[in-house]
Amino acid sequence: MSFNTFGHMFRVTTFGESHGVAIGCVVDGCPSRIPLSAADIQRDLDRRRPGQSKFVTQRREPDEVRILSGTFIDPASGAEVTLGTPIALVIDNVDARSKDYDAIAETYRPGHADYTYDVKYGLRDPRGSGRASARETAARVAAGAVARKILPGMKVRGALVQMGEIEVDRKEWDWDEVARNPFFCPDAKAAKKMEDYLDGIRKKGSSIGAVIEVIAEGVPPGLGSPIYGKLDAELAGALMGINAVKGVEIGAGFGAALLSGEENADEMRMSNDGKPKFLSNHAGGILGGLSTGAPLVARFAVKPTSSILTPRKTVDRYGRETEVSTKGRHDPCVGIRAVPIGEAMVACVVADQYLRHRGQIGEPVDWPFIKA
Ligand SMILES: Cc1cc2nc3c(=O)[nH]c(=O)nc-3n(C[C@H](O)[C@H](O)[C@H](O)COP(=O)(O)O)c2cc1C
Repeated sequence: MSFNTFGHMFRVTTFGESHGVAIGCVVDGCPSRIPLSAADIQRDLDRRRPGQSKFVTQRREPDEVRILSGTFIDPASGAEVTLGTPIALVIDNVDARSKDYDAIAETYRPGHADYTYDVKYGLRDPRGSGRASARETAARVAAGAVARKILPGMKVRGALVQMGEIEVDRKEWDWDEVARNPFFCPDAKAAKKMEDYLDGIRKKGSSIGAVIEVIAEGVPPGLGSPIYGKLDAELAGALMGINAVKGVEIGAGFGAALLSGEENADEMRMSNDGKPKFLSNHAGGILGGLSTGAPLVARFAVKPTSSILTPRKTVDRYGRETEVSTKGRHDPCVGIRAVPIGEAMVACVVADQYLRHRGQIGEPVDWPFIKA
């Protein structure tokens, strides 16, 4: 069985290996007549692209996306819009230095997927880590850019909230700051500390983990399906599917274990627009697997990059004990570039849930049922 597809009504299939001809995706189920151009997708890809600061890998991948199918110039408006047919997006691989990977072609990097791919498939493409490379995530970011356009008014934003031992101060949170520093960090002071911290780690040839928070605003109440299709489960699955992710939390997450029932209860009041509002959001915008209308809040932990310069004990394909250290160009903290990837996965899940909700329920329910 293979699983390169996710989503039900908004369905994304990605393809490609790191050093093959190209990577890309097919997005099926996108409604018709939604304005969509390559520039819309490129904006998101440029945020994930390597080589933009000394704190990320120096690979020079322009990550230029081409739309192969699924859009058309609408004669009525003159704008490029979706046709409702499969949208195929392709990104050429242009900075493949396959020689960098000769040393690990037969030796397994601890923490990477080399051994598991070999033991499952009987062979693997070691160049740039093949299909296990996070290069595949560029295709998800492209799909996420399409997903962002589906639910009117939805805004999905992500930020790096912890790098190793440096955590952001939530009182200092400023969304505008995220675009101003190379870490997608919402706290300017924490970002400053991260510079020296990560520089030290990078110079040692080591790496460090991170925590990313993604918040989706403008998500209407009622999205998701109770029990087996819980919105929280689908978000967790999608975020866990990102390379190097080892933990996901929704709302208060593991911190909920420390709260009392009174503290955890998100009390309700009516707001001026006739809709209920929650006085806190420990639930992360989800109750019973269904969105509450409050912002969706998800956090995920990214492990430190496995490709490091320090030699580590390992074995090779022939069962011999040896050591491996990885040369080549790597991110000292892959959590940084995981920010736009996390946003894309959340956007894809919410878009899928929105279309599923419309399919099942049709028009929104007229709430409150009895006017007071
Ligand atoms: C944006 C991003 C870039 C990554 N770059 C590297 C890298 O340069 N070297 C590396 O060892 N792992 C890198 N990874 C992580 C590996 O792709 C991942 O650890 C590997 O596929 C094994 O999968 P797992 O960690 O999910 O078990 C990266 C992950 C992300 C999200």
